[in-house]
Amino acid sequence: MKVLVLNGPNLNMLGIREPALYGKGTYNDLVIFIREAAKELDLDVEIFQSNCEGELVTAIQNALGKFDGIVINAAAYTHTSVAILDALKAVGLPTAEVHLTDINKREQFRRLSYVGMYAQKTVCGKGFDGYRECLQWLAVGGSK
Ligand code: DQA
Repeated sequence: MKVLVLNGPNLNMLGIREPALYGKGTYNDLVIFIREAAKELDLDVEIFQSNCEGELVTAIQNALGKFDGIVINAAAYTHTSVAILDALKAVGLPTAEVHLTDINKREQFRRLSYVGMYAQKTVCGKGFDGYRECLQWLAVGGSK
C-alpha cells in the first residue's frame, strides 16, 4: 500500500518555530518518525513538504493512480484553502488529516478546516504520534 504524506507551510521550520507549541523536534526528525512508522506498518510512504499552496494541489492531483491514501497536514492552508479541498475531492482517495497541535483549542480561526470537510479521519494534538495514527488508520482500511 502506497501512502502520500503531505506537509504544508512552515512545517519545515519545526524545531525552530514556536517550540512551546510544536516541540523541539525538527522537520527532519518528523520525516524519520514517519518513515519508521510506515515501515512498522508495512506501508510504502512518500513525504512531501511545500510552502506553496499550488504545489500541494499538484501533489494531490498527481497522487491519483499512484497512491492508495493520503495523510495531510496542510498547516495554515487547512484554514483557508478551498483549492486543497477541491483537489482532495477530485482525486477521491482515503484521506486522514493530521495536526501536531489541537486546532480546536487554539485561536478561533483555526477551528475551521477545509481539509476536514473531505478527510474521513482527523487526528490533532498528538504531536508526531498523530502521523502514526493516521498511517495506521489507512493501513487497516481507512474506514471511520
Ligand atoms: C498545524 C496547525 C495550524 O493551525 C498551523 O497553521 C500550522 C500547524 C499543526 O500541525 O498543529 O502550521 O497544522
